[in-house]
Amino acid sequence: HEGQRPGGRLASGTGERVTVRVPAKVNVQLAVGGARADGFHDLANVFLAVSLFDEVTVAPAAELTVTCTGPDAHQVPLDATNLAARAAVLLAERHGLAPNVHIDIAKDIPVAGGMAGGSADGAGALLACDALWGLDSTRAELLDICAELGSDVPFSLVGGAALGTGRGERLTELPVGGDFHWVFAVADGGLSTPKVYGEFDRLNALVRVPEPRASAHLLEALRTGDAAALAGALSNDLQPAALSLRPSLRSTLEGGLAAGALAALVSGSGPTTAFLVKDPREAAVVAEALLASGTCRAARVASSPAPGAHQVQPRH
Ligand code: C5P
Repeated sequence: HEGQRPGGRLASGTGERVTVRVPAKVNVQLAVGGARADGFHDLANVFLAVSLFDEVTVAPAAELTVTCTGPDAHQVPLDATNLAARAAVLLAERHGLAPNVHIDIAKDIPVAGGMAGGSADGAGALLACDALWGLDSTRAELLDICAELGSDVPFSLVGGAALGTGRGERLTELPVGGDFHWVFAVADGGLSTPKVYGEFDRLNALVRVPEPRASAHLLEALRTGDAAALAGALSNDLQPAALSLRPSLRSTLEGGLAAGALAALVSGSGPTTAFLVKDPREAAVVAEALLASGTCRAARVASSPAPGAHQVQPRH
């Protein structure tokens, strides 16, 4: 019965169950332009995938259902708004199929934290369903569906490092010349991305927001794998907005810097804060100090670049 499908085709997965592993991201540069007519903002968004992963498993079922496991699973919506469910529906629609799968998300990426956890699940479900249904979609077809799902979803598929332009969905992959080490401080509760963009608009109502541009210094630091240079070039235009909505993040940022991080910034729209450190040993020191400070709920150590969405052996 191995992989045999009703249409007589062999699924490229096990046929019964497919698991895809997808990384979180940090934005090492997030340059935000003025609000567009469609409400989105033009970005120069430099994504770097980090080694915190969700695993999305899909299996045939009578109807579309979603479950989620992990310490913060209760914060994840399990209805049709879940990006993983939306990915299955979109892919099925394009191929005239019914999206009859059970999707299980093993969640390790902070929820609503500015690390593209929801986007990761969307990209993961898409790739997993494509394999389960034996569709063999091209990369371009998958990226197209990802862009429809959300601005950050294409990057979750691609991983590594990339510059996102437009609303962040048009990707140019970037070379990375070495490993970078990070600590992520997980805050209590999430921040809504549209609210953070709304606060950005409010804070910038009276200024002319310049065209977003990728920093040449930053791209060079990534290319050469130079952590000190990257530390000097990190920037996030959403940070003032995230701090305005969540002032307590300031003390988290200060705590990590005081403990020896090379640089600190809000990850994407927050409220997770990211600390670039010299090496894994420094990462452990900074993580311990952040936890002891009581200014975050959890501290996670990770490295980058990490690979994009890829199939792995399902867990039993
Ligand atoms: O594309 P995605 O669904 O992830 O975007 C979530 C929200 O974030 C959008 O509805 C919009 O408010 C905001 N956003 C934006 N400009 C972008 C990306 C997202 O204003 N480039």
